[in-house]
Amino acid sequence: MAEFIERLEELAASATAAFDAAGDTAELESARVEYLGAKKGRLKAVQKQIGQVGVQERPAAGKQLNEVKRRIEGAFAAAQERLDGGGAAAPASAARQFDPTLPGQALRWGHLHPITQTIEELKGIMGRLGFSVAEGPEIEDEWHNFEALNIPLEHPARDPLDNFYLPVVGADGGALLLRSQTSTVQIRVMENTPPPVRVISLGRVYRPDTPDATHYPMFYQMEGLLVDTHVTMADLKSMLRMFVVSYLGSDVHIRFRPSFFPFTEPSVEADFSWNDQWIEFGGAGMVDPNVLEAVGYDPEQVTGFAFGLGIERLCMRRHDIADIRDLFKNDVRFLHQF
Ligand code: DAH
Repeated sequence: MAEFIERLEELAASATAAFDAAGDTAELESARVEYLGAKKGRLKAVQKQIGQVGVQERPAAGKQLNEVKRRIEGAFAAAQERLDGGGAAAPASAARQFDPTLPGQALRWGHLHPITQTIEELKGIMGRLGFSVAEGPEIEDEWHNFEALNIPLEHPARDPLDNFYLPVVGADGGALLLRSQTSTVQIRVMENTPPPVRVISLGRVYRPDTPDATHYPMFYQMEGLLVDTHVTMADLKSMLRMFVVSYLGSDVHIRFRPSFFPFTEPSVEADFSWNDQWIEFGGAGMVDPNVLEAVGYDPEQVTGFAFGLGIERLCMRRHDIADIRDLFKNDVRFLHQF
């Protein structure tokens, strides 16, 4: 019995070594015939010697034989797989592993930030009302941010504590600041274009406010400017109403309150209704003659209206967002929803 088992183990070791050493499928096949061949295979030869084992021990020997046979067949299968995996057989194997019926891996698509989406939509609405888009710089000089807009040096809006003045000066030695309003772009457009004009400008503005649910030190405005002959306050009111209804829907109420801005006369603030409250979404008015003069227009020939709206407020009302800070935390779990 012990001798039989020893022979089995020797056979297993040399068969495994032969399969492992096979360099190609032809070599493996001849090793297979040598060891596992049905008639003259070496396993067969050892199997025949089971008759020499005593009758008592024969069942145990048979069991051992089967176990060794399985091991040798396993070594053969492993060698077969190894040779299949490389060389010319590779494509067939890869094809076997690719299951076209499995579901694909879903890509995680990103999308535009809700503010960017809002900006695109506002441009679309205003474009249909005949307004084209103008751009202006976020770093401004005092002429465009204040002076030309009829905001004199002593005006509280120019307080350094209410603005982000930069520690550098402009090419002309004048102070520079992050613009506090997009009204700057009105001036830049009128300086370079004779009337009539009909433009909007959308972009960031900066004020040193402490962030809370409705304030953030950086936010977006949409500025609008229309200058032509015979422009009246009625044009402004109907245009703003048409705009708000286009963006927020016909069930939204808006109202105008008398107000003051240095660059408009008269001036209004505009509110929309939201959850039984009036929420201010911007200021507007008829362009002050001093502003028209500052850019070289003749206030006797042309009049105009202007407005500056808070883009976050519009976006928040549209999507029912309660806290402006959520828009800028950039938590994708939040942004994902819009
Ligand atoms: N620039 C003003 C602000 O930031 C908003 C504004 C009011 C813009 C009246 C205008 C306007 O063009 O006519 O508060």
